[in-house]
Amino acid sequence: MTIHIGAQKGEIAETVLMPGDPYRAKWAAETFLQDAKLVNDVRGMLGFTGTWKGNPVTIQGSGMGMPSLSIYANELIRDYGTKTLIRIGSCGGMQENVKIRDVILAMTATTLSTPSRGILKELNFAPCADWGLLQAAAQAAAAKGTPTHVGGIYSSDVFYDERPDLNEQMMRHGILGVEMEAAELYILAARHNCRALAVLTVSDHLLTGEALPSSERESSFGEMVEIALQAAFPNVE
Ligand code: HPA
Repeated sequence: MTIHIGAQKGEIAETVLMPGDPYRAKWAAETFLQDAKLVNDVRGMLGFTGTWKGNPVTIQGSGMGMPSLSIYANELIRDYGTKTLIRIGSCGGMQENVKIRDVILAMTATTLSTPSRGILKELNFAPCADWGLLQAAAQAAAAKGTPTHVGGIYSSDVFYDERPDLNEQMMRHGILGVEMEAAELYILAARHNCRALAVLTVSDHLLTGEALPSSERESSFGEMVEIALQAAFPNVE
């Protein structure tokens, strides 16, 4: 047990999928894993462990924002030996060719700051995805026929952003979408010699103001879970 995760040692898999929403963790575990068992409910941040095609997998909520994700990712890596962490979440689209429901595989994540700012100080570290996971996810998405974009995203600290000029600069520099967690996940993975990737569905659009209807959120989310699982275990039939 750790401060924020109630699982016993051995109850968390080496591969962890991390949705922001703990109820999405429950839905994904019940829908895609065999023998899914609740392993964490501290603070309602649900985590489940089961198997996918015989491979142990944990699906653990991260909460919203980098400080929350950092707590769970740190404890998973340091205390439970997790090696592969895949964020499955939503993002706001930032380019015209990026449409609602499309999937974005985040190759890099630009930020103003992350919880690691304290140790990186003046360094502008470049958080990037694990190449093997990224390549496998791109192949899985292509095989499914899911419209998918691979490129840079923006990990912001604010959902209600009062600095439109920052979003404008991001768009001008080709950033595909905005979310709030991936950059710190990538930095922690780099620090601890782990693999990380963020697989994101475009749930709303900053240019058009469109939003994914709630009735469609589940099916889009499901596609992302399958891409993440196939990326983690690319050689499994
Ligand atoms: N901004 C930040 N995070 C998000 C957004 C957004 O528009 N959509 C989904 N996550």
